[in-house]
Amino acid sequence: FIPPSSGGAGGGVKAKDALGNDISVSNFLETHNPGDRVLAQGLKGDPTYIVVESKEAIGDYGMNAVCTHLGCVVPWNAAENKFKCPCHGSQYDETGKVVRGPAPLSLALVHVKPEDDKISITSWTETDFRTGESPWWT
Ligand code: FES
Repeated sequence: FIPPSSGGAGGGVKAKDALGNDISVSNFLETHNPGDRVLAQGLKGDPTYIVVESKEAIGDYGMNAVCTHLGCVVPWNAAENKFKCPCHGSQYDETGKVVRGPAPLSLALVHVKPEDDKISITSWTETDFRTGESPWWT
């Protein structure tokens, strides 16, 4: 018997809810609407948005919710389909790409994958698909 590793391969973690419990993918999809971006605890406990892709699937990427300006947690504004930082007005589109400063950079990406009805989060070291550039956060 080999106990399941809590860390997971490649230094990943399981996304946790506000209470610190692993998030169940099936429950998550039942309780959120397609298009939503939902906060969870990700790598190093960082607030991380999970994307509700459809009724059946979560997105394969997530965004670190920490504003790249001075570090406020950026709320998702579903009505406007963007993230709007309450601190100094920076805005990010639905993928976390910065569309208005003073934030200098887009929200950091992570990989997200369902695994045994849990949400596995691993670091994103590849090209940032939103900018075509190397990730600034690695
Ligand atoms: Fe977000 Fe300044 S911390 S705009």
